Amino acid sequence: MPSFVRVATAASVPDPGRELVEVDEQLIVLLHVGGEFFALDDVCTHDGGPLSEGAIDDHTIACPRHGAKFDIRTGAALTMPATHPTRSHEVKVDNGEVFVRINDE
Ligand code: FES
Repeated sequence: MPSFVRVATAASVPDPGRELVEVDEQLIVLLHVGGEFFALDDVCTHDGGPLSEGAIDDHTIACPRHGAKFDIRTGAALTMPATHPTRSHEVKVDNGEVFVRINDE
C-alpha cells in the first residue's frame, strides 16, 4: 500500500482553494474546503481536463474544459459530460502539515 506523502502546510492553501501537487509521480489536486482537505486526480474523466484549474463551488469543482462537475469529497461525477468518477485519495493533517496517500485500487 502506498504511504502518506507530505504535500503542503495547511496554512499555505486558502479555504476555499486548491494546490496542484505531485504524489508518487502523479498530479493531484489538493482541495481545501470548509476547513477540510481532499485530494483528487488532476484529471477530468470526460477528456482529461485539468481539474486543478476549475472553479470551486461549495463541495464541487467544475472542469475548465466543458464544465463537468465533480464532488470534491468523493470524486463522483455530478454532471455531464463526465459520467465516471475521478479518483479520490486519502488525506490527513498532522501538526499543520498535509499528507496524501494515493488510492491505488
Ligand atoms: S474534459 Fe472535462 S468536461 Fe470535458
